[in-house]
Amino acid sequence: MKITTSAPGKIMLFGEHAVVYGRPCLVTAIDTRVTVSAEDAEAMSVDLSGADPRFVNAAVSNFRDTYGLPKGIALKTSGFSSQMGFGSSSAVVAGVLQALSELTGKKLDNKKLFDLAYKTVLDVQGKGSGFDVAAAIYGGTLYFMTGGKIIEPLAVKDMPLVIGYTGVKADTVTLMAQVAEKMKAQPERVGRIYDAIAKLTEDAKVKIKEGDWERVGRLMDFNQEYLRDLGVSLEKLESLILAAKSNGAYGAKLSGAGGGDCMIALVSDKNRSAVETAITAIGGQVIHIKNNAAGVRVEL
Ligand code: PMV
Repeated sequence: MKITTSAPGKIMLFGEHAVVYGRPCLVTAIDTRVTVSAEDAEAMSVDLSGADPRFVNAAVSNFRDTYGLPKGIALKTSGFSSQMGFGSSSAVVAGVLQALSELTGKKLDNKKLFDLAYKTVLDVQGKGSGFDVAAAIYGGTLYFMTGGKIIEPLAVKDMPLVIGYTGVKADTVTLMAQVAEKMKAQPERVGRIYDAIAKLTEDAKVKIKEGDWERVGRLMDFNQEYLRDLGVSLEKLESLILAAKSNGAYGAKLSGAGGGDCMIALVSDKNRSAVETAITAIGGQVIHIKNNAAGVRVEL
């Protein structure tokens, strides 16, 4: 028997960093997918093609410890690179666990998959809210609370996003550690920043559902100000954000841990090409994706 699964990447819309400290965030799944196949075999083998072996191995051993596995399985993964911060590791973990769940007939539901996938990511990475794991498993656009305490799918329209890649690889774990240091040094001030981010994330949840992109854009700008205060923005991110804003974007912010990776802007149809041209002109790379992609699934 052979099972093939695929799982989407993600983009953080609102609430990064604050979500690690018990506040909500908004995340959307994107249409870049990781593919995993799992097949009965004589012995265990893994063909990674670029995926991080730590995540794949931890997923396999967590599945084995919890649900059991036959001796031999041939696993194969392929998909998008980890370079831009689109959540390839969580997608690969989701894809592997779903493939093993189908191959062994365990047929885990999304919550069980999430719990095991989140544990896997924590085993490898030590810290993280699990928002990327939720996006990989549930897909769509989610209102998410740390550790999956709330995973609420939002009925939203496709968002008119422009994604600009800085060319700089962000190190999420290091940035989370930097923010943790800041939290230790100035707990009240940083706590107030998180509360403010939580408040605007709640507003954004309502406005995204209404498709009020002008208002959502303004909230992105506010969120970016708080991320700047946390010290996780970067000159290159700022210049791409400024290029988007000065060419008519409703709003723009970094997406994810900061320190590199991508910025996102919300645009009208009229301004899209001016924003994309401006981002490219100053050395950013425009990445064309669609949001609201389907979560992990078995491919026929
Ligand atoms: O760097 P990314 O795209 O994996 O995003 C990290 C977002 C954080 O809130 C900083 C961490 C987390 O796990 O929520």
